[in-house]
Amino acid sequence: MSQVVWQPTQVTKKDRRIQNQHSSFVLWLTGLSGAGKSTVASALELELHRRGLRTYLLDGDNLRHGINADLGFAQKDRSENIRRVSEIAKLFVDAGMIVIAGLISPTREDRDKARARFEQNEFFEVFIDCPVEVCKERDPKGLYKKALAGEIRNFTGIDAEYEVPLHPDLTLHTNKQSVEESVRQIIQFLEDKGLLTFSA
Ligand code: ADX
Repeated sequence: MSQVVWQPTQVTKKDRRIQNQHSSFVLWLTGLSGAGKSTVASALELELHRRGLRTYLLDGDNLRHGINADLGFAQKDRSENIRRVSEIAKLFVDAGMIVIAGLISPTREDRDKARARFEQNEFFEVFIDCPVEVCKERDPKGLYKKALAGEIRNFTGIDAEYEVPLHPDLTLHTNKQSVEESVRQIIQFLEDKGLLTFSA
């Protein structure tokens, strides 16, 4: 892209953070289908919104209806899915928002590449940890049943691998803690890091 020159803007990320009175960053929720990513993401967004913070939720399933409608579940497509969502998240972080992204994002490599697009204290990997047996039982969309019957191929946790995060910033055990406890844990983490306020 040597022929394309980056155009600086007059309003900066810092200006937007000052105006919003909070930092901007992405919470990257990773875990199996049915682990609780969307549930935690939605409850967390509501709580942050109630506190007057500017948020946006990027949900893997939802984005696959639009910008990622051309992608399937082969590893190459999942990598492209994660690349696109992390680039979108980066735009939202630049726009001064608190982004909650929920995607299975099954490989360490793709998650690490996503993290590498951000600066220090802008990307936090949150492992939504739940045993596959529990996810299978919950099976909110009936997809595990289909995968086990061989009707869906490449299903994460059944015939496609999920690589457990080695150094997540935060781990939530959704089979042992309530949604409210998960939300509290994340908010405590953000408060401890001073991310819910911002001063120049
Ligand atoms: S990712 O692997 O590329 O990160 P993403 O989070 O966008 O996945 O989408 C996962 C969602 O797609 C699941 O929650 C489930 O509803 C649906 N899905 C359909 N087929 C598959 C599959 N083969 N593997 C995993 N999820 C699937």
